[in-house]
Amino acid sequence: MNFLLTEEQEMIRKMVRDFAKKEVEPTAAERDEEERFDREIFDKMAELGLTGIPWPEEYGGIGADYMSYVIAVEELSRVCASVGVTLSAHTSLAGWPIYKFGTEEQKQTYLRALAEGTKIGAYGLTEPGSGSDAAAMKTTAVLDGDDYVINGSKIFITNGGIADIYVVFAVTEPELRHKGVTAFIVDGDAPGFSVGKKEKKLGIRSSPTTEIIFEDCRVPKENMLGRLGEGFKIAMMTLDGGRNGIAAQAVGIAQGALDASVEYAKARKQFGKSIGAQQGIAFKLADMATKIEASRLLTYQAAWKESEGLSYGKESAMSKLFAGDTAMEVTTEAVQVFGGYGYTKEYPVERFMRDAKITQIYEGTNEIQRLVISKMLLAD
Ligand code: CAA
Repeated sequence: MNFLLTEEQEMIRKMVRDFAKKEVEPTAAERDEEERFDREIFDKMAELGLTGIPWPEEYGGIGADYMSYVIAVEELSRVCASVGVTLSAHTSLAGWPIYKFGTEEQKQTYLRALAEGTKIGAYGLTEPGSGSDAAAMKTTAVLDGDDYVINGSKIFITNGGIADIYVVFAVTEPELRHKGVTAFIVDGDAPGFSVGKKEKKLGIRSSPTTEIIFEDCRVPKENMLGRLGEGFKIAMMTLDGGRNGIAAQAVGIAQGALDASVEYAKARKQFGKSIGAQQGIAFKLADMATKIEASRLLTYQAAWKESEGLSYGKESAMSKLFAGDTAMEVTTEAVQVFGGYGYTKEYPVERFMRDAKITQIYEGTNEIQRLVISKMLLAD
């Protein structure tokens, strides 16, 4: 067993860490306050090749592995979880299903644009009436001539409004429930497509989350992704990888909170010595660091399995479950380490705490992760 990262993975970590420090961190608090997505940051990520880390060069990517992508999401989230999830949804929720299930033409048209970062990707599964029960979706797609006509709406779409390419799931054969769901690639300028309400959120506030609406939205039948009726499987397989991206985001958030806490614990003096020299705080830091390391190992293990072509659905769900819960715990403790100052916007830990909460909710709540893990355990 080898726990060392490869030279390429270390190089990508260093590049993303430097970029995050220089280009992302300085405006993180301000973008959070203003709920502002910054396209320039995304464009700079594209210049560095970060928008296409795991995709082959023939599709505009940099041909690195899935682990490198996970490391990039972790490093970005260490300073700004919003930028982290922008890349995560773009790569694992939009790029991945096109890479795995797209035709050569779809890959050249859509995956290339995503990989090169000229376009942003998003994923539309959740509806007002179907969150955890994804198969209960109501959005329909009906063939009419050479187009599918989509009607319905999707909510809680990460990258909603800023995305140009949406991977969307709709019912094509209602009587078949999940076997009647089909995936489509929808252009952001398709007729009948519009962006609805933008959510006002507790955390990840500079990552836009919106409703997307389909009113007789016409999509050429060539934009069907995979086969008719294969959509639910595509949605689930996509989430297998996506959940690992969220685990990486959670590890990054927790690490960012620990970094800040360690620095503060060394500098802040009470009772004549630094608070870090007092066991109440020192032991807290030790527990935080240990849980983060365990989360990181689970996250890297799932990413490694993905890179090696091994099955990783269970490990990915475990990584999100553990890392998400850890991020919430660690960031709450970080605020405690900072005391009254931690509760203010003078320090980043309150933002980390607000951002951490979503990692227990999206891409399947942590209760759903337990369902996924236990189903796999009992099926073995
Ligand atoms: N890979 C391949 N196939 C899978 C699969 C997987 N990981 N999981 C399920 N399937 C297949 C099953 O094998 C089964 O196929 P057959 O009928 O051919 O046997 C079929 O899918 C149905 O499986 P289930 O009976 O297990 O399905 P279910 O209806 O009970 O639902 C669920 C299972 C795990 C609860 C699923 O509904 C689920 O994951 N829910 C959570 C949804 C979710 O994560 N939403 C997040 C949306 S994205 C987001 O958060 C926003 C963002 O932008 C960040």
